[in-house]
Amino acid sequence: MNKRTSIVVVILAIALGMAACNSGAMRRNPGKIYAPDMTYSRAYDAYTSNPNFEDSQTSRLPVEGTIAMGHMFPDHLKEGDTVVYKTFTTSLRFNDDEMAEGKRLFNIYCAICHGSNLDGQGPLYTSGKFAAMPANFKDGKYLHMPIGQMYAAAKYGKNMMGSYASQLDQKQRWMVLAYIKKIQSENGGDAFIYGTTPVAPIAAATDTTKKAEEKKKG
Ligand code: HEC
Repeated sequence: MNKRTSIVVVILAIALGMAACNSGAMRRNPGKIYAPDMTYSRAYDAYTSNPNFEDSQTSRLPVEGTIAMGHMFPDHLKEGDTVVYKTFTTSLRFNDDEMAEGKRLFNIYCAICHGSNLDGQGPLYTSGKFAAMPANFKDGKYLHMPIGQMYAAAKYGKNMMGSYASQLDQKQRWMVLAYIKKIQSENGGDAFIYGTTPVAPIAAATDTTKKAEEKKKG
């Protein structure tokens, strides 16, 4: 190949390459599909109509009784069952962070009426805009109130107080109530039992490990 022929070949190759990329018009045709199964899903897409169900919806609701991950079993408490309210309780015990979270939630949802001091003198009540006196949790009437009865108030509401079931999930309700019970215990209420006790066994375990190591050394 002499020099001239190779120049012609190179120019031709470039021209061919450019022509291949530019068909002269907008191309709408994707060309040959080698794997139609992959290009066009055989499964029903989430928002497409579905002939297999009466309501033609592809996205199905979870079956009844489904519990979202991280959520608790339902509490089975029934509205108005005041006998069960009194004995209803929880085995949950809260650490310092959870107690702080209970306080935070109380201040968001409850303090506007019940007061951040839990004395029933929240700003909504003291401003005169809310006629019913919210429970004063430091008052003798409420100091020894069963926690289940308080839980029922948070879940279903009580007279002028609305339900907080949609704002607080079960664990959050118990955290708020544990916080109330903690403050009550410091103000003449029952001994506080909803906190976790610091874990001593860990120290004991390290102790045994140390002893075992000492034994090995002889
Ligand atoms: C809009 C004002 C308001 C808010 C907010 C509010 N409460 Fe109340 N609460 C009341 C009133 C008023 C009562 C008194 C109801 C009655 O006995 O007639 C009450 C009573 C209670 C009682 C006593 C129930 C009983 O059986 O006597 C508890 C426990 C309670 N509230 C907890 C809470 C908790 C927990 C929150 C936050 C999640 C909360 N409240 C938020 C107004 C409120």
